[in-house]
Amino acid sequence: MAKVTFKSDGKTVEVANGTPLVQVAEDNGASIAFSCKAGVCVSCLINVLKGMENLSPKTENEKATLEAFGAKENQRLACQVTVNGDVEVENP
Ligand code: FES
Repeated sequence: MAKVTFKSDGKTVEVANGTPLVQVAEDNGASIAFSCKAGVCVSCLINVLKGMENLSPKTENEKATLEAFGAKENQRLACQVTVNGDVEVENP
């Protein structure tokens, strides 16, 4: 199991390892905005406060989008990651 904390919403939930973060966010009413869900639009940008190592590695697509956007090191696209351990995220 993995603990996911949405700091901006003051919520912590437990999910099975390998659950897509988009699913965790939507199932729990987290305030992350999703649009394309394909790693293109950057709507779902999040700051990873803890547990970056517990998120799935960046795909080439996510890397390219984050780079083009000028995202910081601790930022990921919530629609592109699965959760494999405890993480804490917030809206940027
Ligand atoms: S929802 Fe568009 S990049 Fe994640």
